[in-house]
Amino acid sequence: MVHRQTMSSGKLYGVGVGPGDPELVTLKAARLISNAEVLAYLSANGGESIARSIAEPHIRAGTQELVFDVPMRLEVEFAERSYDAAAIALAECLNKGADVVMLCEGDPLFYGSFMYILDRLKSAFEVIVVPGITSMTAVAAELGQPLARRNEIVKVLPGTVDEERLEDELKEGGPAVVIKVGRHFNKVKTVLQRLGRERDCTVVEWATQIDQRIRPMHLIEELNLPYFSTILVRGKAESA
Ligand SMILES: C[S@@+](CC[C@H](N)C(=O)[O-])C[C@H]1O[C@@H](n2cnc3c(N)ncnc32)[C@H](O)[C@@H]1O
Repeated sequence: MVHRQTMSSGKLYGVGVGPGDPELVTLKAARLISNAEVLAYLSANGGESIARSIAEPHIRAGTQELVFDVPMRLEVEFAERSYDAAAIALAECLNKGADVVMLCEGDPLFYGSFMYILDRLKSAFEVIVVPGITSMTAVAAELGQPLARRNEIVKVLPGTVDEERLEDELKEGGPAVVIKVGRHFNKVKTVLQRLGRERDCTVVEWATQIDQRIRPMHLIEELNLPYFSTILVRGKAESA
């Protein structure tokens, strides 16, 4: 449990930095990052923070940085403990009166880990969320393909859900975006093949980043893809 100790505590900003291209950082995010007293970000399994590398051109030399390591394991308790520890450290900083800008890849509240920090701190401190361009909209833009037309319902499906659920969600034939594909790629591809939708799918890895790669799904032979991969599934009623 975290507590606010003074009336003049700092504010926490959860700032979306977009999908990768530094020009897709909003003006507001760029301003907050370059004026930040303290920057914070999560690092999955101690690796490089993608959010920080996107924000890099806007970070002033000498800015204090707080990095929180989050072990990405199947057992959620490990991540939960890291979020608790991060919330305590952030509360300490906020209680000293410093504003903190927390960097988040894409949008902070679209499957972003910032939501776990928000849950822990919002009752004690002022938290301001600055939206960012999501991977989903960046992928559609890179493909020049609409996400949804007219009355279509677009589904967002994490590749981590089980095969039956994926099949159930995809069988209606509407447009869909599959995120968190990575090591679940083969499972997702099998489901889409079974539904006869394999040729409606395009995979974008590292959208808007230097390593961006775009491939039709049926041409991909690997079983696993990079974590930063998204599949856009075209709706059947394409010409409506
Ligand atoms: C935990 S979610 C975070 C989403 C992020 N908050 C957003 O707004 O896009 C991570 C997933 O988003 C997708 N993703 C994020 N950035 C991406 C990028 N630059 N290119 C392709 N997919 C991306 C991948 O499917 C990845 O597994």
